[in-house]
Amino acid sequence: MQHDMNEDKNNSTVGKANGGTTNSTAANGFSVQGAEMSLRGEVAANAPNAIEVDHIVKKYGDFTAVNDVSFVVKEGEIFGLLGPNGAGKSTLIRMMTTLIPITSGAARIAGHDVTKEADSVRRTIGVIPQALTSDLDLTVEENMAIYAKLYDVPAKRRKEAIDELLETVDLTKWRGAQTKTLSGGMRRRLEIARGLVHSPRIFFLDEPTTGLDPVSRVAVWEMLTNIKSKRKLTILITTHYMDEADRLCNRIAIVDHGNLVALDTPEALKAAVPGSTVIEIQFDNPPEDWEERLRGLPGVTSVQNESAGMFRVLTANGSGTTTDLVEMAVVCSVTLKTLTVQNTTLDDVFVHYTGRQLRDELVKAHAFVMPPRPGMQP
Ligand SMILES: Nc1ncnc2c1ncn2[C@@H]1O[C@H](COP(=O)(O)OP(=O)(O)OP(=O)(O)O)[C@@H](O)[C@H]1O
Ligand SMILES: [Mg+2]
Repeated sequence: MQHDMNEDKNNSTVGKANGGTTNSTAANGFSVQGAEMSLRGEVAANAPNAIEVDHIVKKYGDFTAVNDVSFVVKEGEIFGLLGPNGAGKSTLIRMMTTLIPITSGAARIAGHDVTKEADSVRRTIGVIPQALTSDLDLTVEENMAIYAKLYDVPAKRRKEAIDELLETVDLTKWRGAQTKTLSGGMRRRLEIARGLVHSPRIFFLDEPTTGLDPVSRVAVWEMLTNIKSKRKLTILITTHYMDEADRLCNRIAIVDHGNLVALDTPEALKAAVPGSTVIEIQFDNPPEDWEERLRGLPGVTSVQNESAGMFRVLTANGSGTTTDLVEMAVVCSVTLKTLTVQNTTLDDVFVHYTGRQLRDELVKAHAFVMPPRPGMQP
């Protein structure tokens, strides 16, 4: 697990929010992005509701952190709450998991009302909070055992459960290691295993991969899909990584400023954006009216000027617009520096519904950085 030891201490959100999918630009600066494999499984159409959120509101004084949000998650589903910093994702999770009171509206977990039947809800769920919470001074196994005892897992079942879960998250050989010697990715995997030690039916994970390097992030996704293939589990996950939501989730709710702005499968969300192809194109010193002229090309549904000379063009006719762009550049003697053609991403979905880029929101926000590991050499 060498890669885990090389985690990126800097927040790696920025620049990966745009899908983060395979997007190799060839030496000549031209590339075409292929489709990524999805990690999610199928959900039965007639599956019962695992989570019901009904016109839920959270106010802090005059400030509304969550504003009249409603959704239903089916049993067996991986459901994503996707949104920028401050969108209300953690507040929603805290209300659903009985950690903070609801101002108005209701939430039911496996049929139990979170306000009136909090204990029944707590027995049904596993929760991985946004901050890392494993005890650094205990070993991996001790962290697991403490939770198993806390949740009253019978003694004879405890060892079996811990063995199985450590194997599932690929930490068996680290079971005797002090938790402070683990990388961020390994610690996250330990916490995922720990959160499942009492066999919850519904699992809430708040930004489980924020701050992890790309390899560790994919390892966490694979752990989750692996766990899901072995047990009956409903997963609600929050993230601001587009690619994570796209690959992992059966359905995604996009939240922004406390509001639910869109909810559907990743495919349907992308299909709702006018234009099916995104062309990212960079020119050297384009004329002032260039954006206007790009907008006038046949098939083009939107143009964003991302930075000096760099444009993100959505079009309903990928190949036609690509040809037109190149021809227009040649005719106008504008040098074309790079050109990338890809399918619409959830980034475009976010822009479509909010008018802003998720990655810009993340640049503005204070980034979460994985805390240092006292036991590790720099
Ligand atoms: N206890 C609190 N008192 C006052 N305001 C709060 C409190 N908790 C959260 N908020 C505010 O509610 C809004 C939503 O916060 P929340 O933590 O739910 O966002 P988030 O989507 O989880 O963001 P992040 O991606 O940064 O974790 C933010 O504006 C936040 O400042
Ligand atoms: Mg949060």
